Amino acid sequence: MTSPRETTFDFTAEIKRRQKLVDERLSSYIDTADVGDENLRAAMRYSLTSGGKRLRPLLIFAAADAISADGEQYMNSALAIEMIHTYSLIHDDLPALDNDDLRRGKPTNHKAYGEATAILAGDALLTMAFSLLTRENTSPEICRQIIREIADAAGAGGMVGGQALDMAAENKQISLEELKKLHLGKTGALIRAAVRVGAILAAADAKELAALTSYAENLGLAFQITDDILDAVGDTAILGKPTGSDEKNHKSTYVSLVGIDQARQLAQDAVTRALAALCDFDGKAAFLRCLANMILTRQK
Ligand code: IPE
Ligand code: IPE
Ligand code: MG
Ligand code: MG
Ligand code: MG
Repeated sequence: MTSPRETTFDFTAEIKRRQKLVDERLSSYIDTADVGDENLRAAMRYSLTSGGKRLRPLLIFAAADAISADGEQYMNSALAIEMIHTYSLIHDDLPALDNDDLRRGKPTNHKAYGEATAILAGDALLTMAFSLLTRENTSPEICRQIIREIADAAGAGGMVGGQALDMAAENKQISLEELKKLHLGKTGALIRAAVRVGAILAAADAKELAALTSYAENLGLAFQITDDILDAVGDTAILGKPTGSDEKNHKSTYVSLVGIDQARQLAQDAVTRALAALCDFDGKAAFLRCLANMILTRQK
């Protein structure tokens, strides 16, 4: 790989290459994994291999790059976090939650396989992820740390807790502070964990970890504000999921609370803070900077 320090470095091509690598590894892992039922495997495979930006794996690689380069060696953690993210999407789309029919440009998992299998595919992806984490190429102590990071981020104090707040905030007016807490949970927690896991695997010191955590928290917030904006004004054909889902479900979002223009400004402010947190990093943080800048202009 060419060094990201080189000014001619093509980040877009490199990100595409890494996305493709994650796609290939996910596909081969699920094909050979120990799965008791072939219909369950097909349902897991369906959502895992239907695309997605692979942002959380990219963040693991980029955070590790920022500390000691060669982030791609942490593939098991990257696959694991993408499995947890994919499970969260399958469950998020269920009739009892957002009741959506389209995801990553295809019918949602429960539309294709039925609710029971979709629930089980989500459960299986979540637990498979932890098996993968135990296989990471690192010391037992670092392995223990990353498992705790991801368990805490995925669970009641993180993503699931945020989803519970999201459901409770339907049909209600909540404050901006409450909405921020909800976003930092449902979306921010896994993004924060991805960055921290990459940093921990690459043996970041306490100061580096604190700076990268601040980057990640702001990035996660900007990412979900943009998700809210795209739900209101995005293009379903590009997004691969229905627009107007939040309005349909009377969700509390940045768009419903402060409107599109201020939501854009708040996302921009969060990205500015994310970039500022990287001020002590040299060119090795170039991938992290690039990903932060992509958040604001993304159309999917
Ligand atoms: C969508 O996540 C759900 C949120 C947490 C906002 P992504 O926008 O990362 O979805 P994919 O993985 O690219 O499909
Ligand atoms: C859910 O947020 C985030 C998850 C934990 C999956 P959204 O409900 O806004 O995600 P999308 O818009 O359906 O992808
Ligand atoms: Mg939702
Ligand atoms: Mg949703
Ligand atoms: Mg959304």
